[in-house]
Order: sequence, then structure tokens, then C-alpha cells
Amino acid sequence: MSLATDLELLLAEAEAALAQAADAASVEAARVKYLGRKGRLPELMAGLGAVPPAEKPELGRVANKVKNGIAAALETATERLGGAGCHAGSAVDVTLAGRRRRLGRKHPISQVMDDTIAVFRRMGFIVAEGPEIETVYHNFDALNTPDDHPSREPQDTFYFPDGRILRTQTSPVQIRVMKNIKPPVRIVCPGRVFRRDTPDATHGMNFHQIEGLYVDKNVSLADLKGTLATFARELLGEDVKIRFRPHFFPFTEPSVECDFSCIMCGGKGCRVCKHSGWLEIAGAGMVNPAVFRAVGYDPEEWTGYAFGMGIERIAMIRHRINDLRLLYENNTKFLHQF
Ligand code: DAH
Repeated sequence: MSLATDLELLLAEAEAALAQAADAASVEAARVKYLGRKGRLPELMAGLGAVPPAEKPELGRVANKVKNGIAAALETATERLGGAGCHAGSAVDVTLAGRRRRLGRKHPISQVMDDTIAVFRRMGFIVAEGPEIETVYHNFDALNTPDDHPSREPQDTFYFPDGRILRTQTSPVQIRVMKNIKPPVRIVCPGRVFRRDTPDATHGMNFHQIEGLYVDKNVSLADLKGTLATFARELLGEDVKIRFRPHFFPFTEPSVECDFSCIMCGGKGCRVCKHSGWLEIAGAGMVNPAVFRAVGYDPEEWTGYAFGMGIERIAMIRHRINDLRLLYENNTKFLHQF
């Protein structure tokens, strides 16, 4: 018999054996028997040396076909028996430790925003949104901002060639909502705002605010204080206290700034609160009658409070972050901490 015939017979034998293999061990035994270093195929190939040179290319071709055929039969048998992964001795080592899969998560700004919205929703506020590209009317005029107010300058506000602007605050959403619905109104307006600031540790050219507005009969500053105090405790902890300081905003009268007691030192004074024991969190006040008139509400009939605060600032306090820019670099090593 020629070597070529022997090779063909070997393939047939191996295929038959593998078709009957009942477990992974028999498949492995067949691999060793036919393709192993001292197996049948190498044994036959040793005879190639004695073959006349003219016949060698043809025999080489047959040998290759047989080798590939046996390999294919091995693979088929392995697959038939349930795949490589399930059996010891296969290419997959099932005893290896697993690889941890890193899950994505919400950005700290989104976390604070969502938590903030959740607190106000529990108090009966609903969410209203407005456009980031605003008109000067909604962002300034209707909010009773004087014509010569510095915040209107192109130095501070981004203007489009058509005269519209990137909103500098979420307050214009108040105007849009009040023009659309009749009182009572109880809304929060989360969103991105833009200012032409030079970025540093506490300023960015865009950041996030949440605005609140409550309009009803007989609303008082005490209602505002109760709402903000509840918010402070829910978001930052039972012991957080708030205080009001007189301030000025064109759209509220009287206006206040609302401070939360410092959550780092509990009010004793530390570096974060600049040793005052208090952190500036929100601007607020009673809605100015001029704003009510601009949206067609009767200021004799309706009263309301409004407030606005920066989300980045709350995130920085909550997580003790000392540079705003960290929140925008999206370094995953930083973000994975939250
Ligand atoms: N819009 C103000 C700002 O960006 C924040 C603010 C202050 C909002 C007082 C209000 C408010 O609704 O009553 O600084």
C-alpha cells in the first residue's frame, strides 16, 4: 500500500473514532493518538523521507488534507459535546478568576440634579423645562432686569447674531410657564446655563441650575424658608440648618440669599466655609409684582416665592470636590469614585 492510501485510511479511521467519542476525555485521547507528537500522523509522515522527490509535493498535499480533516473532526466532536468552555483540558481554563466588568454610572452632576428634583417632587413640585437658546425678553426684560444691568453686556452673556442669547439663568422658564398656565403654579426648572466667565476652580462657561417657583394665594417668606429648609435636610442631612440674608435680585422683592450650615464642620468653621460656618447655596425671594404684571397675573390677587441654585456647587460640597473643572474633564478614575 502506498503512503497516500495509508494517510487517507488514517483520516477515515480518525473521523469514525471521533464521531463516536462520548466525552471530552475520549476526544482528547483521539487528539493525542492521531496528532500527538508520537501519534499516528507524525509516524506516517516519518516515511516521507524515503519517497522519491517527484512524488513529494502530491504526498504533502494529501498529508495536509488529512491533518486539517482530523483537526476539523476534533472540533466537531468538541462542539457536539457541549463546547470547549465546559470541560477541563480544553482551551478555556474554567478555574481562572473572572474579569471584573466595570459598570457605567451617573455623573455626579446628574446624581445631584436627580436627587434635588426628587426632593422637590415629594413636596408637590412638577418639572418644567425651557430652551437653552433664549430671548432677551424672557431672560432679562420680563424678569424686571434694568436695561443698563451689567449682566446684559456681551462681556457676560453669549449673543447670537439674531439677537437671541444662551440663557444665563433658569429664571426665564418661570416666565414661559406663567405665560402659559393660570395660577396656582408649583414648578422646578432644572437646566444648563451659560455665562461668559473665565473658567477657574469655581467658575465655568456653562453650569447647571435649578429654579423653583410657587404661586398661590397668601404665599409668604415663611413658606419659602420651610421649603428650602426641608430641601437642605433631605439632600444633605438632618442637622443642616438654613439662614436668610438680605440681598437684591430684580425679579424678587424682598430678595434673600440662602445659606446652609456647613456640612464639613457642622457650623463650627473650617476652610470650606471660610470659617463662617455657612455655605451660600441659593438666591431667592418673593416674586416681584413687576414680574407678575409682565406675565399677566394680577399682583393684588397672587403671591409667590422663587429661588434658584447652582447644581455644581451642591455637588462640590456634597463630595468635597475643590475644583469645578474636575466635573467636566470626565476622567474615569475621578468619576468612578461616585
Ligand atoms: N437667577 C439667579 C442667578 O442666576 C438665581 C435666583 C435668585 C433665582 C433669586 C431666583 C430668585 O428665582 O428668586 O443668580
